[in-house]
Amino acid sequence: MNDQQTVSAWQLDDDSAAAYEKYLVGRFFRRWAARLVTHAEATAGERILDAGCGTGIVARTVAARLGPKAKVIGVDLNGGMIAEARRQDSDRAVSWKTGALEELAFDDGTFDLILSQQVLQFVPDRAQALEQLHRVLAPGGRLVFALLREIDFNPSYEALAGSLARHVGNEAGEMMRSPFAGPDTDTLRKELKAAGFRKIDITHDILDVRFPSPSEYLREEAACSPLAGPIGALDDDQLAGLIADLTPALAEFTDDNGVAFPMETRFVRAFH
Ligand SMILES: C[S@@+](CC[C@H](N)C(=O)[O-])C[C@H]1O[C@@H](n2cnc3c(N)ncnc32)[C@H](O)[C@@H]1O
Repeated sequence: MNDQQTVSAWQLDDDSAAAYEKYLVGRFFRRWAARLVTHAEATAGERILDAGCGTGIVARTVAARLGPKAKVIGVDLNGGMIAEARRQDSDRAVSWKTGALEELAFDDGTFDLILSQQVLQFVPDRAQALEQLHRVLAPGGRLVFALLREIDFNPSYEALAGSLARHVGNEAGEMMRSPFAGPDTDTLRKELKAAGFRKIDITHDILDVRFPSPSEYLREEAACSPLAGPIGALDDDQLAGLIADLTPALAEFTDDNGVAFPMETRFVRAFH
């Protein structure tokens, strides 16, 4: 696909939950969910919560792996994400609920395993959410989650954020940096200890990611986020200028088949 040809045909998806499932789950969250579930060593018979489930890829992955007797619940603040999770779960393998992690509507000790993928950096009151996650875990249970490393370890996103800041505005740049702006490792350990977790184990993981072109990388990331509005409002010349800025910024990640880059996350296991 030629980037110049794509500019005028550029369309952002209206439904950002469906776009999230199609693009970001398709490109990397599905593969990372499989790795998170393996890391958690989930076993049949465990009561499992996917906290901040989004469109439900972690819950669906663990339910498929454990089979029909799996007891899996997915909870997310965003009703649109939950609606898309239900649409994707054609086997009805998971129970889906709307709710905030800071106010979990479950009894103490309800779950043996809580999984969570790329959520805690977005939760407004992380201390309260961690306290709640600890409360709903049974004694001996574990919280296993993925949290992206800082943007220095995810340099293609720094390039994308820089181009957005120059062509859309500083707020757009900061929004693209926000998934990487979670707590550093020392802070995270302290927060988990304060919430009552007694043993913490952190592993770094690196995933290879590919998009067919710089403009498609921009389009898919934007379609899944609040950037869809401001980027959709650019006229053809402004959009061409943004892509002309982004393309050389991504040169070190570009080959004959698009852009390919590493993404780095932490996998954290915290024991009740
Ligand atoms: C990057 S998405 C990750 C979704 C999913 N875990 C996945 O792997 O695709 C972040 C999710 O966290 C949810 N979220 C953010 N703050 C939340 C909160 N306070 N309580 C519950 N969910 C929250 C958002 O609605 C969004 O679906």
